[in-house]
Amino acid sequence: MQYTPAADRYNSMTYNRCGKSGLQLPAVSLGLWHNFGSVDNFENGRSIIHNAFDKGITHFDLANNYGPLPGSAEENFGRVLKQDFTGHLRDELIISTKAGYTMWPGPYGDWGSRKYLISSLDQSLRRMQLEYVDIFYSHRPDPATPIEETMGALHSIVQQGKALYVGLSNYTAEQTKVAVEVLKSLGTPCLIHQPKYSMFERWIEGGLLDVLEANGVGCIPFSPLAQGLLTDRYLNGIPAGSRASKPTGFLQEGEVTPERIEKVKKLNVLAQQRGQSLAQMALAWILKDKRITTVLIGASSVAQLDNNLDTLKNTAFTKEELDAIEAILK
Ligand SMILES: NC(=O)c1ccc[n+]([C@@H]2O[C@H](COP(=O)([O-])OP(=O)(O)OC[C@H]3O[C@@H](n4cnc5c(N)ncnc54)[C@H](OP(=O)(O)O)[C@@H]3O)[C@@H](O)[C@H]2O)c1
Repeated sequence: MQYTPAADRYNSMTYNRCGKSGLQLPAVSLGLWHNFGSVDNFENGRSIIHNAFDKGITHFDLANNYGPLPGSAEENFGRVLKQDFTGHLRDELIISTKAGYTMWPGPYGDWGSRKYLISSLDQSLRRMQLEYVDIFYSHRPDPATPIEETMGALHSIVQQGKALYVGLSNYTAEQTKVAVEVLKSLGTPCLIHQPKYSMFERWIEGGLLDVLEANGVGCIPFSPLAQGLLTDRYLNGIPAGSRASKPTGFLQEGEVTPERIEKVKKLNVLAQQRGQSLAQMALAWILKDKRITTVLIGASSVAQLDNNLDTLKNTAFTKEELDAIEAILK
């Protein structure tokens, strides 16, 4: 199959400025944590990537350990880039990767040392067959490594031309404040923060969003659909092929609790009243906060991706709708 990007790919997407930077990101970005590894169907992943780009998704998010097997999502993404994104198309893409979780054995394949971050990014670039990534993240804070060392490694990576921007993921509000200051003092601003955020996981409302806004840092929430819980996927049990049904899925069967599904059912009714799918309402609910740059979704099919993209047709909420959502989530 030959891929030719859609000529009208920039017609329907909204692009938001990332904090106070010069970079704009699509309101919906695609992550390759699940569904793009060596255990998955390569052609399915490839068509999701094509469809995303055709609809204006310019930002693809990876990490060294995405797969399974770890590293295989980067390898597969590299294959798709090589095959289908030829010529100057690389310049239309924002590709991110990360290091911070266990990647290889021994003391240098985990956490936040300079040794780990720099060698891991070198490996990621080889797997993706790229000269540089657009955004490189410290994937999680490392309590045992001085913050100056971890941020110093991010700064060096930018100086070396291996990444254009840097970001933080899973840092608390306090840790973010410190890391952002250190990066500022080095002359490499923090572009973006990637936290977990959804209707079911709201810790960032308690301070992180304020820190990001005060420092001009963008925000890209991950797992905005709570890995599929905030969709119609689990309304009638755990279907075959869903993330919760798979041995390689991070969503555990035990997380699909009757109490949660009760809430999901009520939210689903509300979404229907708004003329949206529950997935669309859950994504719109995140995008209503202007401090959010883009929502970072996952998808196992082109149909899911299209459904999620239609979110952008209605991201406004009335006060009554927001109150009704709060009452359900209580
Ligand atoms: N920084 C970090 O520590 C971190 C951690 C986790 C994730 N991330 C990033 O965030 C990205 C997104 O995370 P996520 O995949 O957990 O996000 P998510 O959007 O919350 O969940 C995606 C899953 O929800 C289901 N889904 C999506 N759209 C649907 C729809 N319209 N209708 C029904 N079901 C739908 C699919 O599950 P099925 O497979 O069941 O179809 C899909 O795989 C990752 O790929 C990764 O890039 C970052």
